[in-house]
Amino acid sequence: MTQQREHFGSRFAVIMAMSGSAIGLGNIWRFPYLVGEYGGAAFVIVYIIASLFLSLPIFLSEAVIGRRSGASTFGAFKKLAPGSRWNWLALLTVFSPFLIVSYYSVVGGWAVCYLFRSFTFEFARPASEVVGMFGALSSNPWLPLIGHTIFLGATAIIVALGVKGGIEKFSNWSMPVLFLMILVIMVYSLSLPGAQAGIDYLVKPDFSKLDGRAVASAMGQSFYSLSLGVGTILTYYSYVDKKENILVSGLGAAFFDLLFALMASFAVMCAVFAAGIAPGSGPGLIFESIPYVFNVMGEQMPVVSSVVAILFFVTVLISALTSAVSLFEVGVAYLTEEKGMDRKKAVVLEFVAAWLLGALCSLSFGPLSSFKILGNNFFGLCDMLASNFFMALGGFLFVIFVAWKMKRSDVYDELTCGGTQRLPVCCFGVIYFLMRYVAPIVIAVIFISGFVL
Ligand code: TRP
Repeated sequence: MTQQREHFGSRFAVIMAMSGSAIGLGNIWRFPYLVGEYGGAAFVIVYIIASLFLSLPIFLSEAVIGRRSGASTFGAFKKLAPGSRWNWLALLTVFSPFLIVSYYSVVGGWAVCYLFRSFTFEFARPASEVVGMFGALSSNPWLPLIGHTIFLGATAIIVALGVKGGIEKFSNWSMPVLFLMILVIMVYSLSLPGAQAGIDYLVKPDFSKLDGRAVASAMGQSFYSLSLGVGTILTYYSYVDKKENILVSGLGAAFFDLLFALMASFAVMCAVFAAGIAPGSGPGLIFESIPYVFNVMGEQMPVVSSVVAILFFVTVLISALTSAVSLFEVGVAYLTEEKGMDRKKAVVLEFVAAWLLGALCSLSFGPLSSFKILGNNFFGLCDMLASNFFMALGGFLFVIFVAWKMKRSDVYDELTCGGTQRLPVCCFGVIYFLMRYVAPIVIAVIFISGFVL
């Protein structure tokens, strides 16, 4: 069955498909708020270093496993290491996406609420009220739950109907529109009075705030943003043609991903400083700052501002939905393929479980906000467990598998497409060294120190 797999048509298609999974709330919502929480430019620099030295080896490892086996996580380890304990890793790759989709949907739900607000021109009030709207929304017990239900429901329906292909066609136009919207908002945000402080914040590093937690979060964010450590890239590459150069498509996807994250950060940070919001205000940062941009824009151009606001939230939601669908699908595929469950039943089961977990996350900004574990509310705990813990663990194990369990010649063979693509021997040496020593050791150290410090 695996021999007959479909393949992507071109390198451009590969990079776009990968970017579609990677670009989502991680870039637009999560990256800017972490940058604000951990001190600006210094965090960005650590993030870029982590992407090159840790994420890239993981990306390549997942790609090598996926393309070599031509199967998704469950089949891949059965094929490459039959009868071994590596199969257990596949279970981790079911659990992490489930955990992520449950709180991802809460953020998607906030975006749903903000989309409704864009339709009803609610950003045209005094600026302080616009900024304060997020606090009022997230601490309200009901509204965010309605948003969460709509977002997760839409995700489940798309997975149940199997219209994934349709939604992906949708994302072909939504991605460029989203890019354009972020560009427009960023340019406008850069021109706000007081924006210079935001620019300084993003380009002048202050390493004094950088502690173990910040470094662990930069690493976790890099994995999160590129959808690493949960088998997504692995599965994508099982559909990639043998002739495709993994290194080139990996770097291409990482480039677009970083571009979106940086643009979103400039858009958000300039508005944050212009509006006098504290950069470290946490997960609500984008929902406080971007509507402020719409507010100021609306004073001069009310119609343009409403159109930009609506288009912005629509495209954010579509990009979030494409990511959520692929996260949700993993659990459904597991239940149907490995456990023989009926597809509709599997969707309902996962919907109920993820809804409940997400509801707890949602309520942890309101009625349950005093309930804290390790200094985090429940939402923060799920987020930290998923990205700093499970994704890091998954990534670590993928790298170990490729660099220590697979044959060096097989890895070379995959990276050079059977010797047809030129990869200077020293270049392969560096990559292999990163996979074998640097990535596993550094991930382990950061992983442990992130918890201890
Ligand atoms: N990378 C996605 C984003 O930036 C989120 C994500 C994490 C994801 N892991 C994933 C998406 C796995 C799809 C599959 O929003």
